[in-house]
Amino acid sequence: MSLLRVESVSKRFGGITANQDVSFEVGAGKIVGLIGPNGAGKTTMFNCIAGYAPPTTGEIWMNDIKVSGMSPEQCARAGIGRTFQVARTFTSMTALENVMVGAFLINKNVGDARQSAARLLSFVNLGQFRDKPAGSMTISEQRRLAVARALAVKPRLLLMDEVMAGLNPTEVRETVDVVLKIREEGISCLIVEHVLEGIMPIADAIVVLDYGKKIAEGSPEQVSRDPKVIAAYLGDE
Ligand SMILES: Nc1ncnc2c1ncn2[C@@H]1O[C@H](COP(=O)(O)OP(=O)(O)OP(=O)(O)O)[C@@H](O)[C@H]1O
Ligand SMILES: [Mg+2]
Repeated sequence: MSLLRVESVSKRFGGITANQDVSFEVGAGKIVGLIGPNGAGKTTMFNCIAGYAPPTTGEIWMNDIKVSGMSPEQCARAGIGRTFQVARTFTSMTALENVMVGAFLINKNVGDARQSAARLLSFVNLGQFRDKPAGSMTISEQRRLAVARALAVKPRLLLMDEVMAGLNPTEVRETVDVVLKIREEGISCLIVEHVLEGIMPIADAIVVLDYGKKIAEGSPEQVSRDPKVIAAYLGDE
């Protein structure tokens, strides 16, 4: 049974078609990779799904709730969490306080928010940064902090936009371990990523966008053998 259903979504900005008639699904407890060259429309798709920019046409459903047209807050309440391609870390606040910002969205009780944030920091292996300013953390640690903050809203689907970009192989592995732990919790993950060695080994399915259109979909093996996908990536070099 699918948790998220994207149905014929198109998104236009004036004359630019950032997404064109894109359909795909994310099953409950699955990891789906959304890949494609720069400007393919991946972040735009996240903005459509999470309520930051409604689709021009098409519909998006979370189970039996139509989320297309809803505000980001309503989408969050429907179970959609996200991280941002451009970090929104509060660098002078502590790691704990950053995660509490997420926790407060669903629980105004300070003690509860603190407890839930502390648990999530440990979950993403950042327990030791609890009382340190987020600005003192590495990029890799700040990305996992953003994941913890998104998890604090208790999503059933987590959208992660390039959380592995620019990381070294050790950091990619640490991030992959966290993604696998998230799936073990039963939370579905939709992951936009250029770091294919991070996403390909763990994805249950891959969706490929190019110039706003879906050009391929299937297992990581199927997609990486697809001539259209190879051409899209080579054309990008
Ligand atoms: N708010 C906007 N207004 C106008 N054009 C936009 C807007 N947002 C995105 N676009 C355009 O839509 C297209 C898709 O952009 P998008 O950011 O979704 O790509 P992407 O796949 O996330 O790329 P990248 O891998 O570089 O992050 C681009 O041509 C971009 O310039
Ligand atoms: Mg993007």
